[in-house]
Amino acid sequence: MLHTLARRFGQVGCCCSLVLGYALIGPAFVPPTAAAETVALSIDVSKPGAKIDRNLFGQFAEHLGHGVYEGVWVGPESPIPSTRGIRNDVVAALKALKVPNVRWPGGCFADEYHWRKGIGPQRAVTLNPNWGGVTESNAFGTHEFMDFLEQIGAEAFISVNVGTGTPQEAAEWLEYLTTAQPTALAKERAANGHPAPYKVAYLGIGNESWDCGGNMTPEHYLSQLKAYSRFVRNFNPAQQQDPHRMLKIAVGPGGDGPRWTEWTDAIMKAWQGRSWSWDIDGLSLHSYTVVKWPPSYESAGFGETEYAQILKSTLEMDRLVATHSAIMDKYDPQKKIALVVDEWGSWYAPLPGSKEGFLVQQNSQRDAILAALNLNIFARHAERVRMANIAQMVNVLQAMILTDKEKMLLTPTYHVFRMYVPLQDATFVPVAFDAGTYTHGGGTLPRVDVIAAKDAAGRLWLAVTNLDPNRPVTVEATLAGVTPKSAAGETLTAPRVDSVNTFEAPKTVSPKPIQAQVRGKSVALTLEPKSVTVVSVE
Ligand code: AHR
Repeated sequence: MLHTLARRFGQVGCCCSLVLGYALIGPAFVPPTAAAETVALSIDVSKPGAKIDRNLFGQFAEHLGHGVYEGVWVGPESPIPSTRGIRNDVVAALKALKVPNVRWPGGCFADEYHWRKGIGPQRAVTLNPNWGGVTESNAFGTHEFMDFLEQIGAEAFISVNVGTGTPQEAAEWLEYLTTAQPTALAKERAANGHPAPYKVAYLGIGNESWDCGGNMTPEHYLSQLKAYSRFVRNFNPAQQQDPHRMLKIAVGPGGDGPRWTEWTDAIMKAWQGRSWSWDIDGLSLHSYTVVKWPPSYESAGFGETEYAQILKSTLEMDRLVATHSAIMDKYDPQKKIALVVDEWGSWYAPLPGSKEGFLVQQNSQRDAILAALNLNIFARHAERVRMANIAQMVNVLQAMILTDKEKMLLTPTYHVFRMYVPLQDATFVPVAFDAGTYTHGGGTLPRVDVIAAKDAAGRLWLAVTNLDPNRPVTVEATLAGVTPKSAAGETLTAPRVDSVNTFEAPKTVSPKPIQAQVRGKSVALTLEPKSVTVVSVE
């Protein structure tokens, strides 16, 4: 399968003869096997592309199931170690991911959230009709969210209520959060423990307003969008100028097909004809890897067929992004508006025995591969895709972290996000390669996927995924514009495609060190089947 950026290289057969001439660097080198064919990569470091915005590694934390309550918030009285009620173990794990931003409070929840219920000493108990019909204590509200962000070092991406709220309610929330003037709302914020204005970096104006957010037509949504964009202001004195200005993100499409392309077209066309009084900076895109609704693929205990089907489906993200980017290009050739993929990830059948509506699923090596493939797609579209939020951060859908009372585990997806940290804000470097094919059950996928990037220190990074669950592969990168001395990093694979981490065996899927062979201008890496590998080239 020829990568879109690729030109065809002569297929090299068995790599053994090639590998013999390389210097062996370090003890953790994985020896190539006879079955490890070679994929040639060509990388010209002097031809960099767009910045891989760190915001592509954003997270999403909705009031849903045990995502916030138990996953992040246990309350100050809990025996689980916390700082002001926020779990210390979860904070420590998330800090290692350098989470750039967290989208909150929803999701569908956001369009029924009334922020006043979540401030002050007395919190009204309300309902969460979207997700299991459970009660919502409102114990985790504005101040707790901002405290959580401060603890993990992330920016706020607040989704305001368009569905059941008003521009006035949202405007007052932003005034409460951001003004430095002595208004009644600022005094209330100070009385609730935070005299200084908060920083709100991103504002989502509604969520899926075409569906759970109010079943709006594009025209109806546009009239809401214009009012919210006009009236919901950020007053923080430190946020009045670029690059610190709060960015506003409009509801965008939820798939492909005419319904969605018409939505994108309508919003972008209106934006092109905007007046001085409203503006946006981003258009959201939601797309889950689900194959069919209701979600019925198992998150654990599946075989190679389901592995291949889910990965084939996730690769559709590339076409989806390309389709909507092309429409955006028509109205915004300068790419001022970012495409913000603020809900993505796998959505499987709920784990047996889990509460309905809590979207509890396991996270396997398949999810690690899925995460890498999507991050690679976003990086390839980095000129337009400048932000993304995986759904969701803890205990819900394709989570980074699972908790069970005082226990916590890191998922395979977490490990990929941690391995990709050096790519945050690095510069994309195009890679030409013939990906080869992996075929199973009549479906054909690329055998490997690769991206490269150069960090601020000038170091080159390679992220390589071997999709084939049965065959190792050697990738041999020929570099122009840099002379490599050594290359090393981490690789993540697992005994089976459906291997998961459990509270009893939390390290079944964990990264291990890997070293490449370097000779002249070439770097060669032999990758295990179904693996994700990130190495830096020194
Ligand atoms: O992430 C779960 C839900 O999926 C979100 O609340 C909604 O926006 C989407 O449909």
